[in-house]
Amino acid sequence: MTARVVLGVSGASGAALALDCARALHAAGAEVELVLSAMAERTLALEIGPAARDELVALAARVHPVIDLGAAIASGSFPVAGMIVAPCSMRSLAAIAHGLDDNLLTRAAGVQLKERRPLILLAREAPLTLAHLHNMTAVTEMGAVVLPPVPAFYLRPVTVAEITAQIAARAVDLLHLGPPIAQAWTPETKGNAT
Ligand SMILES: Cc1cc2nc3c(=O)[nH]c(=O)nc-3n(C[C@H](O)[C@H](O)[C@H](O)COP(=O)(O)O)c2cc1C
Repeated sequence: MTARVVLGVSGASGAALALDCARALHAAGAEVELVLSAMAERTLALEIGPAARDELVALAARVHPVIDLGAAIASGSFPVAGMIVAPCSMRSLAAIAHGLDDNLLTRAAGVQLKERRPLILLAREAPLTLAHLHNMTAVTEMGAVVLPPVPAFYLRPVTVAEITAQIAARAVDLLHLGPPIAQAWTPETKGNAT
C-alpha cells in the first residue's frame, strides 16, 4: 500500500524546507497530504517567490485548507505513516505542545501523537526562549522528534539547496518509509583531510 504522509507547512523561515520535503516524499513514492498555515503561504511567497505554492501543491496528492477541521487527516481513523512539519514555527510548536488542535495543521499533529505515529518537527527560531525550549521538551516527551533545520556542516555543503535537501532527507528518513535517502557521513566524505 502506498504510504500517506501529512506535510504541514507553517510560517517559520525556511519555506524551502517544505518544498524539499515534498520532493523527497514524492520521490519516495509517498502520497503527500498537504496543509499550509496562512503565514506559510506568506513565507513561501516571500522567501521563494509567487510560484512556490503552486510547485508545492503539484507535489501533493491532496491539499487541505488549514481551517478544515473536518478533513480526513483530522481523524486518527485515517491511516497515515506519520507527519512532518517543515518548517515548524514556534506558534505551531506551542499549539502542538499544549494539545490546542486549533487548526488542521496542529490537529493533524496532535492526531499523530495520540495515535503514537511519527511526528517530525523542523522547529525553526533563533535564538530560543525558555518557552520554546519547554515546548520542545513537551513534544519530545509525547513522542515527537524535534529536528532543528541546521546544516550538516560535516558534509561541507556548498549551496543552500544542498543544505535544505539534506535536512529534508533526514526528516523523511525519520519516517522509515524505505531505505535511507540522506547522505550518510563516512570518514571518506568529500574534502575530509584524514
Ligand atoms: C518572513 C517571516 C519569517 C518568520 N520566521 C519565523 C521563524 O523562523 N520562526 C517562528 O517561529 N516564526 C517566524 N515568523 C512568525 C510566524 O509566521 C508567526 O508567529 C505566525 O503566527 C506563525 O503561525 P503558524 O504557526 O500558524 O504558521 C516569521 C514571519 C515572517 C513574516
